[in-house]
Amino acid sequence: MSLFLGILRLVLLSVAQHFIKQKPVQRYPCRLNKGEKRGSYVYDSNGKKYLDALAGLWCTALGGNEPRLVEAATKQLNKLPFYHSFWNRTTRPSLDLAKEILEIFTARKMGKVFFTNSGSEANDSQVQAVIKKYDILFIADEVITAFGRLGTMFGCDKYHIQPDLVSIAKALSSAYMPIGAILVSPEISEVIHSQSSKLGSFSHGFTYSGHPVACAVALEALKIYKERNIVEKVQAISPRFQNGIKSFSESPIIGELIIIYGDRLRSTERIIEELKSQNK
Ligand SMILES: Cc1ncc(COP(=O)(O)O)c(C=O)c1O
Repeated sequence: MSLFLGILRLVLLSVAQHFIKQKPVQRYPCRLNKGEKRGSYVYDSNGKKYLDALAGLWCTALGGNEPRLVEAATKQLNKLPFYHSFWNRTTRPSLDLAKEILEIFTARKMGKVFFTNSGSEANDSQVQAVIKKYDILFIADEVITAFGRLGTMFGCDKYHIQPDLVSIAKALSSAYMPIGAILVSPEISEVIHSQSSKLGSFSHGFTYSGHPVACAVALEALKIYKERNIVEKVQAISPRFQNGIKSFSESPIIGELIIIYGDRLRSTERIIEELKSQNK
């Protein structure tokens, strides 16, 4: 099997696992209706308390109910609840957020940020950009790995990757508002810019791209990550957490211990090495 097919198989397997390898949890929906203030617990409609160990879908990085994010949304809703980003329009929160994201992404210098509503939209938009101009570009999907989850602000910092394009979403707003973004390298943004200028404007976007309320919430989330030293906290906690969770690996009720990122990554690297040696 070629290395390419091998890697493709790995990607497909991991996507399939994401959606398929889940145990049926329970027959009736668990109706969650309250999050703990500044904490990791959520409550169902009967008042039963749950530890939200997945942080929603790996996204509520600031817990079930962070009042500062609610306040940021309320303030922006009272000021300018919506404006679009077409035809050279923008809003203050969207500009400030783009600037902040470019500052905190330090694996390499990036040129521009385009906002989307989700990680999927960010990934789909990048595929279109790649097909247009280049044969091969490195796209880093940081939808779950960004904002301290791996003990660095981005996964690219941890693994010394210098991508051409980066997708972010989820913890960008701690998932309190739907928002995603694409970071684009200066070389690519220059190509897009010069072509768009010829046509009049850059016409890719969504109705809610750069939504001011979502941007205001995301800005506040990024501020809190810095204030609370999220990256250092994850570095301090993760060895103990990983050791603790490994001790459950033999339990019959554990189906998906692959979520421990260290192990997962190592095994992926091992498979790639095996495929490489088969192709020598
Ligand atoms: C790695 C990765 N990329 C992209 C996505 C899609 O993001 P969204 O659900 O915001 O469209 C997900 C969702 O879980 C993801 O885990």
